[in-house]
Amino acid sequence: MNNRQPYVKACMDEIDRYRGGYFNERPWLRQAFGSVPREHFVPDRVWWPDRDADGLYPVLDRTADPERWLQAVYSPSAALITQIADGAVKPEDGPTDCGDFTSSISCAAVVVNMLHHLDPQSGETILEVGTGTGYNTALLAHRVGADRVVTVEIDPTTAEQAAANLHGLDRPAPTVVTGDGERGYPVRAPYDRLISTACVREIPAAWMEQVRAGGIIVTPIATPFGTDALAQLTADGTGHATGRLVTAVDFMFVRSQRAFRPWRELGWPRLPDFQVTAGPNGQEIRQH
Ligand SMILES: C[S@@+](CC[C@H](N)C(=O)[O-])C[C@H]1O[C@@H](n2cnc3c(N)ncnc32)[C@H](O)[C@@H]1O
Repeated sequence: MNNRQPYVKACMDEIDRYRGGYFNERPWLRQAFGSVPREHFVPDRVWWPDRDADGLYPVLDRTADPERWLQAVYSPSAALITQIADGAVKPEDGPTDCGDFTSSISCAAVVVNMLHHLDPQSGETILEVGTGTGYNTALLAHRVGADRVVTVEIDPTTAEQAAANLHGLDRPAPTVVTGDGERGYPVRAPYDRLISTACVREIPAAWMEQVRAGGIIVTPIATPFGTDALAQLTADGTGHATGRLVTAVDFMFVRSQRAFRPWRELGWPRLPDFQVTAGPNGQEIRQH
């Protein structure tokens, strides 16, 4: 294995520079990021998320080019694609443009951003939806303890690999459940925090039902603005939650919510709903 430390440090320095000091506000997060080896969760062959000149997503191969692979693992703003078209295309098949991305290791900066907003406290219980590689799960376990984290992944092969990744670390492993995370995991409810690393159009009712009063839900939610947003909500313990959209993110959808639905059906205000005033002294954009 190449020396990972320079890559880890460069990645953390970069996140420090452009992510508003999240590590400084959350010392546990800096500690967790430095301690959990991200490369342990990345398959030897993954797709890079940007197309090459030939229009295809290239494959990064750890064996063929270990330096480039490791650099990509610690590239702060790149998600590495681990599955396309629900597994119909394999990284072994080589570069491709066939199908949508369906699983990844989320980019490091976004992982930090989301965990900053989730802000789990030591000893709290957490439900994670969308295990993927298990990397985010391991960071959560580092914070609250493996026995307090449950993660649900809908894709059986992905779930199995994530469990193997987590068990392969030299530390206790959280529970990985194969199932539909939109239903939560009632067996261990209520949870103090719930984080989804897959995007929703509509927040599943089970999530509000399974988070305690005052507990926090953090999830990407689709918006009409051409990007997803991160919703940070506080549950009231009676099946409702209220909160804000706190930052822009970009995620793949939970399986049952891939299809477009009209925004008004999803509770969005009629657009345009913002008033823009512009002049020589600048501009102001306000909600109606
Ligand atoms: C962006 S990836 C998760 C990345 C992961 N946090 C990581 O960094 O490795 C989203 C994952 O959500 C999973 N997923 C999609 N719909 C789901 C559902 N209804 N329940 C549970 N997992 C789901 C996908 O299979 C995929 O593995």
